[in-house]
This record gives sequence, C-alpha cells and structure tokens, in this order.
Amino acid sequence: MIKMVVVVFKQVGLKMQLLLAIAFFPYFPVVAQDTGESLFKANCMACHTIGGGRLVGPDLKGVNAKYEKEWLTKFIKSSQSMVAAGDEQAVKLFNEFLIPMPDPPINEDQISTLLTYIKEQSQPIEEEITSVADVIEKPGQSSLVKVETSPDRGSFGFIEIILLSVMGIEIFTIFILISVVFMISKHINGLK
Ligand code: HEC
Repeated sequence: MIKMVVVVFKQVGLKMQLLLAIAFFPYFPVVAQDTGESLFKANCMACHTIGGGRLVGPDLKGVNAKYEKEWLTKFIKSSQSMVAAGDEQAVKLFNEFLIPMPDPPINEDQISTLLTYIKEQSQPIEEEITSVADVIEKPGQSSLVKVETSPDRGSFGFIEIILLSVMGIEIFTIFILISVVFMISKHINGLK
C-alpha cells in the first residue's frame, strides 16, 4: 500500500515537473538573452538618448551612419583607449564633451546587438507610417502614434441608462393615460 502511494506520488511529481517545464519553457530564452533594449537601458541610457537630445553624452540617433561599425565597436568597447591612441574622431569628441565615457561591461556580440538596436531606433517613425491602414497592418511598430480603432462601447454609459429609464417612464405614462381615457369614454358611453 505504501509502495503504491510512493509510486503514485513519484508519477505526480514527475508530471508536475514536466508541466512546470512546459509552462516556463518559452520564457527562459527571453530572460537569458540580452535584447538591444535591455542592454541600452542597463549600460547607456544614463548618458545617452536616441533622438531625445543630448544628455551627458551626444544623442545617438543616426550614429551608425556617422561612423564605420568597426570604429563604433572599438569606441564603445573603450573610448579612452582610442583617445589615448590619438584617434582623431575620438579626441575631437572627448575635447567637446570633456567627460570620459566609461568602458561598459559588455562583449562584442552585445555591442553588435546594441548597434542594431540604435540603428532601428534611429529610423524616423513618420516615414514608416503613411496611413491609418499602415498602423493597423503593423501594430506595435510605433509607440508614438496611437490610433483608436474602436473606442470602448462594451457597456452602457451612465447617460444612456438615464435616457433609457426616462423613455421607459414616458411610455408607461402614455399607456396609463390612454387606458384612463378609454375607461372614461366607456363610463360616459354607459351613462348615455
Ligand atoms: C557615463 C556616461 C556615459 C555612458 C554610461 C555611456 N556613454 Fe557614450 N558617450 C559619453 C560621452 C561623454 C561621450 C562623448 C565622448 C567623450 O567624451 O569621450 C560619448 C560618446 C559616445 C558615442 C559617440 C557619439 C557621437 O555622436 O559621436 C557613442 C557611439 C557612444 N557614446 C555609445 C555609447 C553606448 C553604446 C553606451 C552603452 C554601452 C554608452 N555610450 C554609454 C558618455 C557615456
């Protein structure tokens, strides 16, 4: 008897593990993998915006078009090494901002992911969306443009309820009046 209980318990336990594994499976890669957005937020956002203007460092909008990818990767990896090595553009930047950009704790793959993210974020939204149909076809592409396709009409509003009850009372009153008139005319007819 105890053996049976143990066996059943084991099976249930195994199934629970399987169920948990299936339930959480889709989330693991998302948690484990760096996205450009999470990397940017964690390492760059304190000093940079993409299209939001200058902070501690320059606005990074369109930076991919300004420099070679190789230069950008090297600069992000260690900007001060480049300044020290006398790289013309790095020295010019440093002389303008006078604040050393710290070396972020990320590798080249992550820098590449970041650069792709900065490139994506640099694209003007106005060009991508040319009509309302575009917005509906590409939901989630623009966080700046919000289109109300269907205002919430799921439930009656307060005013609608008041109007409906007024209408109901009116119909009821008319009904009573008609029956009163009917009764009076019957009464009058009976008197004749
Ligand atoms: C502590 C603030 C700070 C942080 C954090 C920071 N930067 Fe910078 N960044 C700067 C400053 C300041 C400059 C201007 C150059 C200089 O002074 O060395 C700069 C310059 C740059 C440039 C050159 C821009 C241009 O228009 O020429 C790029 C690209 C850049 N940063 C990318 C990044 C990325 C990507 C991250 C995140 C991994 C990051 N930065 C994190 C401060 C920062």
